[in-house]
Amino acid sequence: MFDFSAAAAHLPLLLQYIAEVCCIHLGPEKRYLVEARLGTVIGETGVKDIPAFIAIARADTSGRLRDKIIDAMTTNETLWFRDQRPWDSFERHLFPEYAAELASGRRNRIRVLCAACSTGQEPYSFAMLLDEAASSGRLPGLAPAAFEILAFDISPAALLLASNGRYNQIEMGRGLDAKWKTRYFKETTPGVWQLDEKIRRMVTFRRRNLQDELAGLGQFDLVMCRNVLIYFKDEFKRDLLERLGAIIPTGGLLLLGGSEPLFTHQHLFSQEMIGTTIFYKRKPSTPLP
Ligand SMILES: C[S@@+](CC[C@H](N)C(=O)[O-])C[C@H]1O[C@@H](n2cnc3c(N)ncnc32)[C@H](O)[C@@H]1O
Repeated sequence: MFDFSAAAAHLPLLLQYIAEVCCIHLGPEKRYLVEARLGTVIGETGVKDIPAFIAIARADTSGRLRDKIIDAMTTNETLWFRDQRPWDSFERHLFPEYAAELASGRRNRIRVLCAACSTGQEPYSFAMLLDEAASSGRLPGLAPAAFEILAFDISPAALLLASNGRYNQIEMGRGLDAKWKTRYFKETTPGVWQLDEKIRRMVTFRRRNLQDELAGLGQFDLVMCRNVLIYFKDEFKRDLLERLGAIIPTGGLLLLGGSEPLFTHQHLFSQEMIGTTIFYKRKPSTPLP
């Protein structure tokens, strides 16, 4: 374990480097957090001080050390059907709307983006809900094959868990009702539950940093970007919301976390109550004068 007390003078350098790689801005009062999360990673490199550690991380062309820093510093806390309300809104309002549009031929594709998806519970909750609604026959036209669900995160460790679709007892216990567990999971080894292949195939996972350009991903009818803005500085949040606005076509929806209300960006989004959930609806782009 690295001795942070001897390295206190260099802590700002480390905080700056963390902000650079994962955009998480921490003040010196968070030294305990950095110590708890990065102490072992730094210790393993055998360096004497923080500048040497940063130099090694920068020089590591394999990116492995950088990934370890990202995995250690990101908070991958998530759960199934997090904050029940959005899921009710999808099921009762958005799915019927999408079904009608698909059935009428006004659309033949719905693209969904789950940004900062962590270990996959969020996009998989969407996929299970969609599959269940489609197979119930309640909504003719709602074909899962018409949906493209793309999910990304910065953390390689979280993405590995997500793409494996295997969860332990604790993860399964977080927000997943027996109904979903019975229908879509199998206990392959004691205490390990494997998500149905059909649901796994509905979601494509990618590694991506929200700092990267998003335009290359194309346009999305629905973007979920939940419980991640809280880690970012206002300046970065503003820029990110502009870039999210650019990948949502007029009428498309943005869903943020329950504790992340959007008070800015009225030029891009109007607030829209759908069921009991606030969504941000993309306004038409105003032509330049
Ligand atoms: C608290 S989890 C939220 C997961 C999920 N959206 C939810 O609401 O349950 C935050 C996630 O954001 C990811 N994250 C943090 N900074 C990121 C960045 N710059 N780019 C992409 N993902 C990031 C973390 O790796 C983590 O998995």
